[in-house]
Amino acid sequence: MIFLDLVRKRQSVRKYLDKPVEREKIDRCVEAARLAPSASNSQPWKFIVVDGKHLKNKVANATFSKLVSFNAFVPRAPVIVVVTIDKPKLMLQMGNVLKKTNYGLIDIGIATEHFCLQATEEGLGTCILGWFNEKKIKKILDIPKKNKIGLVVSLGYSGHETIREKKRKSVKEISNYNNYKFD
Ligand SMILES: Cc1cc2nc3c(=O)[nH]c(=O)nc-3n(C[C@H](O)[C@H](O)[C@H](O)COP(=O)(O)O)c2cc1C
Repeated sequence: MIFLDLVRKRQSVRKYLDKPVEREKIDRCVEAARLAPSASNSQPWKFIVVDGKHLKNKVANATFSKLVSFNAFVPRAPVIVVVTIDKPKLMLQMGNVLKKTNYGLIDIGIATEHFCLQATEEGLGTCILGWFNEKKIKKILDIPKKNKIGLVVSLGYSGHETIREKKRKSVKEISNYNNYKFD
């Protein structure tokens, strides 16, 4: 697919078909994520693919609550991917402090989007989830204390029939050549 068409086709999918996802397709998504760039090439990510129904439902149920119900669609996804961030090495820890940033979070954001774009190419739908109960998911999946969960992704065949129009700022609002002049 032409890259821009692929980017236009990716959308957050919150409705899934009751259809299992082939592992070879998921493996290609992980491969796309594996090739992502990262600060100091640290590759601080782990992708925990949860496709066993019982375990998957337990993880999915930790992405919403009665109070925060916008992720209540997640249990209907047949696969959940939990993206963790390794504890940074000393040099990167220093970099994070000196530059007042979190390179690990940036890195897994890029890798996760690689994953999602490959999923689109495979005819699959994804939704990146930034809201979840980290403590609960870490317990369910036995994730070591020192590893942080950065993102969770729901994955499956989309139940949406159309690609929604993207609600985005215009190019003029977000980009300029050679100056920072925005109204
Ligand atoms: C870091 C991040 C966290 C997000 N968290 C959630 C979430 O918890 N629940 C959800 O339904 N969508 C979540 N989204 C999806 C966004 O709402 C969505 O990407 C945005 O509205 C643009 O729509 P589109 O993905 O369909 O183009 C998240 C997206 C990102 C990048």
